[in-house]
Amino acid sequence: MPTITVIPGDGIGPEVTREAVAILDTLGLGLTFDVLDHVNAGRFLATGTALTDDDVTRVRDSAATLLGAVGNPRVTSPEYARGVLLRLRAELDLYVNLRPVRLLHERLSPLRDGRRRDLDCVIVRENTEGLYTGIGGTLRAGTRDEVAVDADVSTWLGVSRVIDHAFGIARRGVCMVDKSNAVPAGGRLWQRCWRDALARHPQVPARHLYVDVAAMNLVAQPETFDVIVTNNSYGDILSDLAATLGGGLGAAASGNLNPATGFGLYEPVHGSAPDIAGQGTANPVGAVLSAALLVEHLGHPDAAEAVRVAVRTTIDDGRCTPDLGGTLTTTGAGAAIRAALG
Ligand code: NAD
Ligand code: IPM
Ligand code: MN
Repeated sequence: MPTITVIPGDGIGPEVTREAVAILDTLGLGLTFDVLDHVNAGRFLATGTALTDDDVTRVRDSAATLLGAVGNPRVTSPEYARGVLLRLRAELDLYVNLRPVRLLHERLSPLRDGRRRDLDCVIVRENTEGLYTGIGGTLRAGTRDEVAVDADVSTWLGVSRVIDHAFGIARRGVCMVDKSNAVPAGGRLWQRCWRDALARHPQVPARHLYVDVAAMNLVAQPETFDVIVTNNSYGDILSDLAATLGGGLGAAASGNLNPATGFGLYEPVHGSAPDIAGQGTANPVGAVLSAALLVEHLGHPDAAEAVRVAVRTTIDDGRCTPDLGGTLTTTGAGAAIRAALG
């Protein structure tokens, strides 16, 4: 029986993962769950360590991980998210952050100019390098002469493998997004890896955009995108933008993947949403669709598709949370999806 580690986390994390786990149970795939509900901001504040080596071992020994969200207004240090989410991404070498977005329903597009705005894209975010490695430091902290450096790290291996992954999953084409007109060393490396990848994948339509114009085009012509491959920071920012264009951040799913080992950590794109936590209004769809990605990668594509169809059915019918135009609670929306699963 495959064991799934579950890290509910903070804020709305536990509220939405509860619904996602209930859906996984309904699928009858024989999954068991190892819930690490002690990994949260309270433990970080009390001990300075939210995720211990023992927790990492439990994650490693599981078939996959489902995470809600980490983040609490009482925690201002980046060391909390770095010690949980970024630690798992780095130590398990989850180098692909896969963030698929489809327009959920026409009524949910924020682009209301009378033109139909289809969106069906996948952001492939490099997930272990860029500004997130922690290489850097501070000189003369707290003075007017303070110097802060966070290195923007790109490696030939890291860039090549994530671009190759994008080509591997392309349906209509790949768009590489960088800032090579301004950022010299990393820009040069991304461009070299891109040219080499074009030669390896001559049959796939491909184009390049600078990140500023990519953001503009996502809004102006969302239908022109299929797979977008980009670095860690641009992928983070563009994925919240794309999620909003698709109908809302609360509905966006992601998988942090190592395609070589097959391990994945699945989580909604959104955070712990402290502004709505505890109100029972959080949208569980991002977590539920992340669970769909999880079962798909465990070898159950039909179950994943059934969950996606059930989600779409409930949204079409307006049986959803307020952010998607419905009136249901988090548990009500989860129950509606389970009912639609049949
Ligand atoms: P957020 O994604 O938590 O919230 C942004 C906005 O979207 C809020 O108005 C929120 O109410 C709304 N929203 C988010 N998810 C929703 C849902 N499921 N249903 C309905 N509305 C939803 O971003 P933030 O406010 O910048 O971050 C809050 C905390 O979460 C911070 O500590 C941040 O670091 C953390 N965070 C964690 C993750 C993660 O664990 N993967 C991701 C992003 C942010
Ligand atoms: C995400 C989040 C994280 C990130 C934060 C919480 C560190 O925004 O998963 O998109 O920047 O990767
Ligand atoms: Mn983000």
